[in-house]
Amino acid sequence: MRLVSSFIFGFSVCILLKTSSGFAQPATFEWQPVAPGVWKSVVGTSDGVTPLGIAEVKPRLDGLQKLGDIAFPALLGESVHEKADGKTLLRFPLKPGEQLFGLGLNFKTVQQRGTIKTLHVDHYNGKDNGRTHAPVPFYVSSLGYGVLINSARYITVYAGTGVLAEGKNAPPEMNRNSQKNWNPQPYSDAVEMVVPAAGTEVYVFAGRNAMEVMQRYNLYCGGGTLPPKWGLGFTHRTPTLFTDEQILKEVAEFEAKGYPLSFVGLEPGWQSHSYPNSFVWDSVRFPKPDRFLAQLARKNIRSNLWINPYVSTHSPIFKDVLPYTGSHTVWVGRVPDFNTAPARRFYKELFSKQHLSVGVSGYKVDEVDGYDNWLWPDVARFPSGIGAEQMRQIYGLQFQKMTDDWFRERNQRTYGLVRASNAGSPALPYVIYNDYYDHRDFITALCTSSFAGVLWTPEARSSKTSEEWLRRMQTVCFSPMAMLNAWADGTKPWTFPDVAEDVKAVMLLRMQLLPYLYTTFAQYHFEGKPPIRAMNLVDGFSFDERATAGSLNSTENPYAMAVKKDIKDQFMVGDYLLVAPLFAGETSRNVILPPGNWYDFYTGKLAGAGEVIAISPGLAKIPLFVKEGGIIPMIPPVLHTPAETEKLPLTVRHYGKTEASWTLYDDDGQTFDYDRGRFTWTKLDVKKNKKGELTGSWIAPKDLAFHYTTVSWEFMTR
Ligand code: GAL
Repeated sequence: MRLVSSFIFGFSVCILLKTSSGFAQPATFEWQPVAPGVWKSVVGTSDGVTPLGIAEVKPRLDGLQKLGDIAFPALLGESVHEKADGKTLLRFPLKPGEQLFGLGLNFKTVQQRGTIKTLHVDHYNGKDNGRTHAPVPFYVSSLGYGVLINSARYITVYAGTGVLAEGKNAPPEMNRNSQKNWNPQPYSDAVEMVVPAAGTEVYVFAGRNAMEVMQRYNLYCGGGTLPPKWGLGFTHRTPTLFTDEQILKEVAEFEAKGYPLSFVGLEPGWQSHSYPNSFVWDSVRFPKPDRFLAQLARKNIRSNLWINPYVSTHSPIFKDVLPYTGSHTVWVGRVPDFNTAPARRFYKELFSKQHLSVGVSGYKVDEVDGYDNWLWPDVARFPSGIGAEQMRQIYGLQFQKMTDDWFRERNQRTYGLVRASNAGSPALPYVIYNDYYDHRDFITALCTSSFAGVLWTPEARSSKTSEEWLRRMQTVCFSPMAMLNAWADGTKPWTFPDVAEDVKAVMLLRMQLLPYLYTTFAQYHFEGKPPIRAMNLVDGFSFDERATAGSLNSTENPYAMAVKKDIKDQFMVGDYLLVAPLFAGETSRNVILPPGNWYDFYTGKLAGAGEVIAISPGLAKIPLFVKEGGIIPMIPPVLHTPAETEKLPLTVRHYGKTEASWTLYDDDGQTFDYDRGRFTWTKLDVKKNKKGELTGSWIAPKDLAFHYTTVSWEFMTR
C-alpha cells in the first residue's frame, strides 16, 4: 500500500536540554503509518499482552481505503513520552476549547475533558472514575483525531487537568484575595497518562470529524460486528431455575399474547452446578437439551446460555483444566488461564459438545469484570505467567474472541452478552450489560458506547410502577439488544396490565424496524459507523459547527447553549432516527434537534430545525424524530425474526420534502458468507416527478441474499 510505505513523523530524540527546574526534556514519538489515516508508535518495550493482540484485530483495509488519505493531526506532533520510576509517562497536547470524548464506557458523562480516571475493568460503581466494564484507553478529540493506548495496564489518565510549571501555555498566577475570576482549575493544555509498564504502543486515528475518527478506529479493529438477524429481535431471559417445560410454556405465552420473541436466555440453573459451574445441563430440569432446542428452533427461536468461566469440581473438565488455572478462586471455582492452549482446548471441546452441537446460539459471559472482592486479587498468579492486572484487563475480551472463533469455524454467527471488554472489541459479537440499573445512566452509556467501540444494552428487569416499566421497555427496544432479563424477578412484558398493549406496540415496532437496524449494523461492519450514536457524532452537530449552528448566536440563544452542554439523554439509531426517551416521573422534556429539519416519526409532521423543542408526548410512545430526507424501511410486525427462506413485503417510509436515497443491506442473516461477497446493497430512491411530487423507486436484486418481495412507499410528510 502506497501510504504505509510513505512518511514517518517525528524522531525519538533524547534531547539533553533541561528545563530550569532541572528535568530532562521528554522524547517525541516516532509515528509509523499503518493504514490510511492511522499511525502507530512503540514507546520503550511494549508489553507482550495487549488488547488489540488479544482481540487479534484484522484491520478492514477496504473500508479504511474508502475513507481515504488524511494528514497526520498536526497538533499531536508535539506529543512526548518519558520513562520514570519504571513507568511510561505520555503527554498529548490540547487546544483551548477542544472537547474530548471516550475513555471507555461511562455512565454519567459524555465529554471527558477535565476528568481523571484510572482505567480498570470493573463492575460500574456509580462514578465515571475509570472503573467500568469497558475502560477502553481511547479518546476522541473534537479537532478530529483519536488516541489509543494499546496496553492492558491500569492506565491513569489526566484528561486536561495537569498544569506544567514551564509549559508553553502556562496560565498566569492569580491572587484569590483580589481577583474574582481566580480559577480553582487553571487551564491545562494536555492529556497526560501514566502507563505502569516499561513501554506501550500508541495509535493515532485521524478524521475530519468525530464520526470519521470512530470509523477509522472501528475499521482498524476489523469493522463492527454484524449480528445474525435473530440477534436484533427481542430476547427474554427466563427465571434461573426454570425447566425446559416452563420455558416452552413461556415461549408459547409470548406467541399467544402476540409479543415478539427471537431468542431466549437461560440463566445459571440450566446447569447441574453453578457458582462455580459444571457447564453441563441439569438432567432434571433439562433431560433432553437437543429436543428442547429443536422445539425452539422450529419457531425460529434461538437460545443463549448464561455462564461465568469459573469451573467447579463437578465439571467433566475440572481435572484436565486444573493445571491451567490461577492461584486464586472465584466463588471457590478455579479460574482458567485462556492464554494456555490446553485451557482453551478443554473449554472448546466441552462447550462444543454440550452446547454448540446441540443448537445453542450464544453465551452470556457474566462476572468477568469485577467486583474486586469477588474476583481474583492483583496478587494472583497465572500459569501463563501473565500478571493479574493484565489478566483482569483482558479476561472478558479474550473470552469473547475465543467463543466467536468457535462459532466462526461453524460458519455460524453468534450474538451474546458480556460484562467486560476493552480496546479492539468492535468486531466481537457481544453486547455489554450490568447490574447497575439506573435508567438515566443506562441511556448515557448508550451515548458513550459509540466512542468506545462497544455495544451496550439498557436491559429491563423489573420496575416499581407500570410507568417505569413502559419507559424502560421503550428504551430497550432502541438499543443493540432488546432484552428483558427476568432471571430474578420473572417479570413478563405484560406484567403491568395498564401498559401491556403499549409495551407490545414498541416491541413490535422493534421487529418492524429490523431492515433499518440490520442495515445500520452493516454500516458498522463495512464503514465503521457505530449503530447507536451520541449526538456529538451527528453531521454538522459536532465540533466547531456546534456553537454557530444555523443562524443562531452562541451568546444569547438557548439552542447554542444547549448543544454546548453534555448531551446524554438523547441519541441516534443509525443515520436518521433520533431517540429522546422519557424517564419515570417525567411528562415533558426538551429535545435538541441538530441543524436541518426534523420530523415526528409517528406523524411525519415537522418537529423543528436546529433548535431546542419542548415536548409532552404522553406515556404510550417513545419520542422519535427523523432527519430531513430520512428513509426508514420496515417489515410487517412479525413475532419472530423471519427465517432465512422467508421473503417479506417492505414498507419504506420517507420523511420531509426533499429527494433522498439510501442503500438497504441484506444477506442470509446467519452465516459469514458475506465475507465472500454474498450480500446485496439496494438503492432506495426518492425523486420528485414533473409535478413536483415525491415518488419512490428501487431495483430489487434477484439474489438469494435478498429477502423482500415488494415495496410500498409511505410519504410521511404531507
Ligand atoms: C448477575 C447478572 C444477572 C444474572 C445473575 C445470575 O451477575 O448480572 O444478569 O445473570 O448474575 O446469577
